[in-house]
Amino acid sequence: MNILAIESSCDDTAAAVVKDGRTVLSSCVSSQIEMHTIYGGVVPEIASRKHIEAVYGLADQALSDAGLTRSDLDAIAVTYAPGLIGAVLVGVNFAKGAAMSLGLPLIPVHHVRGHIAANYITHPDLEPPFVCLCVSGGTTAIVDVKSYTDMEILGGTRDDAAGECFDKVARVLGIGYPGGAPMDKLAQGGDDRKYELPVAHVAGAELDMSFSGLKTASLNLIHNAQQKGEELDLPAFAASFGRAVSDSLVPRSMAALRSKGYGKLAVAGGVAANSRIRADLQAACAKTGDKLYLPELRYCGDNAAMIGCQGFYEYQAGHLAGLDLNAYATRDIFLG
Ligand code: KG4
Repeated sequence: MNILAIESSCDDTAAAVVKDGRTVLSSCVSSQIEMHTIYGGVVPEIASRKHIEAVYGLADQALSDAGLTRSDLDAIAVTYAPGLIGAVLVGVNFAKGAAMSLGLPLIPVHHVRGHIAANYITHPDLEPPFVCLCVSGGTTAIVDVKSYTDMEILGGTRDDAAGECFDKVARVLGIGYPGGAPMDKLAQGGDDRKYELPVAHVAGAELDMSFSGLKTASLNLIHNAQQKGEELDLPAFAASFGRAVSDSLVPRSMAALRSKGYGKLAVAGGVAANSRIRADLQAACAKTGDKLYLPELRYCGDNAAMIGCQGFYEYQAGHLAGLDLNAYATRDIFLG
């Protein structure tokens, strides 16, 4: 079954063709980063307009890269939630038009379910049930993936997402947008014990997290140093920051895994590219004997291949939409 998948929830327009949920025939991503960099973050209105300009050509590109024509397609899958509402709407409306004109089924895919499915591309042997740590610019959650389409959030952030925290701190340091990758690079070789940054605990909810205190403490530290004319040891700061984020994510993921007893932990989302978090998870799983699944770096960030992959399983479960499909800025993962 060949699925044309469309993703436009934030600042990447993406189209892909995926065969039978696991084989990526093509994956095209058009990034808007350059456009938003001058503003230090995503400008929703600009994002929507850029998606409109890119989506049609990218879908054609994905088809031709796959060596297919429109008549070879069996369904259209699209991210319908969550995301910047204007941006998501562009993909949804394009997908509805494509499904209607080609007479194909329309499959709505939850963006975070898509991130989780990126692991199916990299690891052909991975099947539910497993626990997945989902960490991106908008989401930080530990998910019980009971089946391909039955999921439950076991714990998550009470405020900022981990990626958002990376981005804010990097912006104040002036090292680029989005900030996660430059912070990761800066941290290499830095002394991760030099700066003591807070790791919050949520009373009575051991799997929940909070990153707003870490963000505030980091920004205060940077501003204090600036006001006193002191030079911050940037690699040490970035390494200490990475340690604090990892110390929030890793023990909770391991505790969730222990409580479920699946023996399989996957990671998903843009922050899953972080070298410190990957290394700490690898060390933790090596210690417990649990199996760790990390997506390939190119499938950590937003892409449409992951949407085509999850779309296949949603289709198999009968989760289809009509042409009245709407886009949602927020939506629970268990609703699909
Ligand atoms: O999954 P994604 O592309 O978009 C969302 O669905 O949110 O994630 C983007 C987030 C950004 O916050 C970015 O700074 C972060 O992923 N990110 C990283 C790294 N690469 C990307 N964070 C930490 N370390 C990285 N290497």
